[in-house]
Amino acid sequence: MSRPARHDTAPPAGPPPPVEPYAATVLERCDRLAAFSEEPDRLTRRFATHALREANATVLGWMSAAGMDVHQDAIGNVIGRREAAGDAPATLLMGSHLDTVAGAGRYDGMLGVLVALACVERLRDWGRALPFAVELLGFADEEGVRYGTAYLGSGVVAGTFDPAALERRDAEGVSMAAAITAFGGDVAGLAAARRDAGDLIGYCEVHIEQGPVLEAQGLPVGVVSGIAGQTRAEAAFEGVAGHAGTVPMRLRRDALCAAAEWIGAAEAFARGETNLVATVGQIAVEPGTSNVIPARATLTLDVRHLDDAARDAACNRLRERAAAIARARDLTSGWTVVQETPAVECSPELSGALAEAVAEAGCHVMRLPSGAGHDAAVLSRITPVAMLFVRCAKGISHNPAESVAVDDVAVAIDVVGRFLELLALSR
Ligand code: HGY
Ligand code: MN
Ligand code: MN
Repeated sequence: MSRPARHDTAPPAGPPPPVEPYAATVLERCDRLAAFSEEPDRLTRRFATHALREANATVLGWMSAAGMDVHQDAIGNVIGRREAAGDAPATLLMGSHLDTVAGAGRYDGMLGVLVALACVERLRDWGRALPFAVELLGFADEEGVRYGTAYLGSGVVAGTFDPAALERRDAEGVSMAAAITAFGGDVAGLAAARRDAGDLIGYCEVHIEQGPVLEAQGLPVGVVSGIAGQTRAEAAFEGVAGHAGTVPMRLRRDALCAAAEWIGAAEAFARGETNLVATVGQIAVEPGTSNVIPARATLTLDVRHLDDAARDAACNRLRERAAAIARARDLTSGWTVVQETPAVECSPELSGALAEAVAEAGCHVMRLPSGAGHDAAVLSRITPVAMLFVRCAKGISHNPAESVAVDDVAVAIDVVGRFLELLALSR
């Protein structure tokens, strides 16, 4: 797409169009995307699946209709670009992810992509030429459900993607490399898909809060101060299979009982530590039949904390506890750290502009940390980041009951519009 001639980058004379219709469209589009699922009775849209292919095609269509230059990158991120007025060599990134967890809500990720798209459409309808380009990203994998490693999409953009992950296999035994190729991606092109940060102003992500704080404070939006770090690990307990009817209890080396003891210990430990959360989300038992004493139990562990040293110390304690439980039961234990993402502080400057936009929109400015991980944590490796949280009902997320109010989405669109104007003024 050729660059537009040099434009006057002053805002048009009249006000921007009212936000309400755009907010309604955002929710309608979230409903449309929720139909693209791997499962008939709940929303599950994992990385490089047909469901994601359908969602990507739909979002690319909306981006293109909004006048953006669109493409899908080597890992399957969808990217739209709205050029700057004239030849300004600056770009603001916005977006979020389009993949979901299993049994997901329809706003985690998608809201951020679609609010950003609504802001681009509103600029178009207003006739507003900005002195910087806007690039909108829909990331192909933030949740890490299919391969256990989060942030595959933003990791490629930020250049943090670990090629060793290409060997990982999903539950059906499909390697990540094969899945990317089958999806139409380009394994050989992953490194080259890294975004050069030379022209970047920063990255702004809108996301549901996924927690109860904004609702408790009666606020529609909040500015994120920082994102908790996370460790994804796998623990394994190795015992001895045996006959459920003949082996006396005192002679058993039961891997599942060891795992159960450790899960309880992990919960009790995390309950006792301030601002620490630890979750065992998956467990696999072998041989996995009702009349065989389990020989092996493999569990996932997800540990979060705003302070990296505290998170590391917690992981060490949990690893040592697993080994101690295994020894006491004459079992062996294994521990693999699958992925570590450090805690991130959002950019004071960019967050300051976002906070000013919130205040201009007539809202009280609340800053709050994110216990959830976000693509912004990865993009912070290459550019300053800011996040705007949107209130969600009862703080529910990673659950079909996830919901947002259209009025709060309207506030978010208004705030991001004002944020863009503040950035334009500063250029
Ligand atoms: O797990 C998380 O924090 C995010 O939903 N990926
Ligand atoms: Mn999520
Ligand atoms: Mn998310």
